[in-house]
Amino acid sequence: MEKARIAVMVSGGGTNLQALIDARISGIIKSGEICLVISNSHTAFALERARKAGIKTFSVTKKELGSQEAFEKAVIDELEKEKIDLIILAGFLSILSKDFTDRYKRRIINIHPSLIPSFCGDGYYGLKVHEAALAKGVKVTGATVHYVNEIPDGGEIILQKAVYIRKNDTAETLQRRVMEQAEWKILPAAAEICSKEIINSKEK
Ligand code: GAR
Repeated sequence: MEKARIAVMVSGGGTNLQALIDARISGIIKSGEICLVISNSHTAFALERARKAGIKTFSVTKKELGSQEAFEKAVIDELEKEKIDLIILAGFLSILSKDFTDRYKRRIINIHPSLIPSFCGDGYYGLKVHEAALAKGVKVTGATVHYVNEIPDGGEIILQKAVYIRKNDTAETLQRRVMEQAEWKILPAAAEICSKEIINSKEK
């Protein structure tokens, strides 16, 4: 069976990448294959996880290339070389330009650690999202997988999962629970949904 060719873009620890790798092994992702992991940091631990799983890695920084445009060009070259169908932003903490997102309409998805439209958009990433949820005093938070367009965290929602906040949660304990109960579940599920859609559209 033909599989959608997936690239995962990462910046840090890569626990969401790990969830995707594990989901391939456990059979949750049947219609897609992770062929490439791209990072905007040479030292991201996520790259280690990819190498351990035998997945090709590519890392490049905006700083060494001098501009966002040059960074995106290098990424696009790599995506084309690997004939990538679906791009998954899994803890990729840099904003992509409109040129980039227009080029891959409905072909880029992102995991965000809140229930969009709460605590999202410019400046909301990683622990900051959970700090904002705790500061507001919401009782329920969660995670969202959505298509990526030119508006940060603004694309169509694919899947969401709610997580209850506990009285003595810190941003760190909440982040961990949102990952365990929501992110690591809905990201692989969304990867399968989108891969299947791509394969079906190719067969038509
Ligand atoms: C995850 O919680 C992910 O949802 C978040 O960064 C973390 C990366 O962890 N992404 C964003 O905040 C995007 N706006 P990981 O590297 O262990 O997957």
